Amino acid sequence: MSGAWWKRGVLYQIYPRSFQDSDGDGVGDLKGIERRLDALVDLGVDALWISPIYPSPMADFGYDVANYCAVDPRFGTLADFDALLAAAHARNLKVLLDFVPNHSSSQHPWFLESRASRESARRDWYIWRDPAPNGRPPNNWISDFGGSAWEWDEASGQYYLHAFLKEQPDLNWRNPAVRSAMYDVLRFWFARGVDGFRIDVLWHLIKAADLPDNPVNPRYRPEMGEAHRVLQAYSTDQPEVHGIAGEMRRIADSFGERVLIGEIYLPLGRLMHYYGRETAGVHLPFNFQLIDAPWSARGLARLIAEYEAALPEGAWPNWVLGNHDRPRVAARLGQAQARVAAMLLLTLRGTPTLYYGDELGLGHVDIPPDRVQDPRELREPGLGLGRDPVRTPMPWDTTANAGFTSGEPWLPLNADWAERNVETMARDAGSPLVLHRRLLELRRAHSALATGAIAIVESDGDVLAYARGTGDERLVVALNLGDTPQTFTLPHWARAARPLLSTLADPPPPAADRVALRPNEGMVLATPTAA
Ligand code: NOJ
Repeated sequence: MSGAWWKRGVLYQIYPRSFQDSDGDGVGDLKGIERRLDALVDLGVDALWISPIYPSPMADFGYDVANYCAVDPRFGTLADFDALLAAAHARNLKVLLDFVPNHSSSQHPWFLESRASRESARRDWYIWRDPAPNGRPPNNWISDFGGSAWEWDEASGQYYLHAFLKEQPDLNWRNPAVRSAMYDVLRFWFARGVDGFRIDVLWHLIKAADLPDNPVNPRYRPEMGEAHRVLQAYSTDQPEVHGIAGEMRRIADSFGERVLIGEIYLPLGRLMHYYGRETAGVHLPFNFQLIDAPWSARGLARLIAEYEAALPEGAWPNWVLGNHDRPRVAARLGQAQARVAAMLLLTLRGTPTLYYGDELGLGHVDIPPDRVQDPRELREPGLGLGRDPVRTPMPWDTTANAGFTSGEPWLPLNADWAERNVETMARDAGSPLVLHRRLLELRRAHSALATGAIAIVESDGDVLAYARGTGDERLVVALNLGDTPQTFTLPHWARAARPLLSTLADPPPPAADRVALRPNEGMVLATPTAA
């Protein structure tokens, strides 16, 4: 068994407001997460990434940080965090936090000081500009949540930049003092024992120095959300960001085997730069392609091959099916195909990140208008861009509120929680939860899956097939991405392969050279040489 833990391991994302409440306020907390660690061990994941837990006015539910080195009282205390970390480590679980470097809260003392006057020592910690000659914002940049990315400050007579809400002013990463303060934040948590960070919107950190207008997007349609009116050519992905990623990497590496994962939504070629070129960048630039890809066998085969081919020398791949910003995989693909997607995620080469609740097949949850929480939805209602439906409480059992809270949950539970919950599904061999456990067991048992090479195998129709191998072990994964029966012809080296796991019950024994796949069935097969 070789390789860093973050290469072999499987990550699990926890949205802390929604995992487990321990004090009855309807919002999850750190003690709640600690209580549920054994459930994560039973599931078989290796590391948790917890979305922001820092003190925050919660304008963007924690992605507006008012103090980078403390814990919001809603989630607990620093002592609770230390206890959670120790309890996780005692179970061989790693813990990653969410680092939010692009912007702070408008209530962060740094911003309050910056805003206080043009002469403030921290004025240049944020991005302030005079109005355009007509009094309008300095350029045409649009906030990712709609509206101008500039907010007028009457008192000091300038605009400040915010890529997200006006309550989330962008820090000025061209200022060395900002960099050094933010690097101290990384050191603070690394020294406490944190195993790594997911870095929020890494590609946003540096803007073109003279802040030119962004080009108009010729393909803009209103249903995309207003941010898409322009292409973020000058407001994101500037060359200098790679120097910053490199500096963060050096800090992480100085603490031993820690991991940095960058949140980056960019086309493949540009995404790959975040692994670093002359100097190392982040360990894993998140690969979100499976979230948006059309779900077809040929398309996915191409996507996997192109991604693998684009990886720089020595770079380790990773895959994601969902997160707290994007629609649930079961809502996108349906329950039957979501099982196949789970097999895909957990058998591809590279570190997978599972989003909490996807192991239960949580689907779309309707949020009544009077319970909408997400500022994304409130700012541009009705476009389907709101994120509340993917942030609903984790259903644990059949007691009140699915065991999530003794109070009123901050968002409604999934309507089917009486059946779709951890306790009930753990007893059902056909449940998505049991399938995830089996897949994770299989991944742990077979190095070919955890760290082996990958090659696409020729297939027809709706079948996506690939080989995974290491040493003399070779496995074949064959996935029926459609809802009709398919036949997969085994490559010659895999004749007489035997099924190790199917997404459906009772796989029929394979014929010598062909595998009959039922509608929406995925299979992992061991070739005769395999253990
Ligand atoms: C990306 C985060 O994933 C999202 O939830 C947040 O709203 C924005 N960054 C702003 O921090």
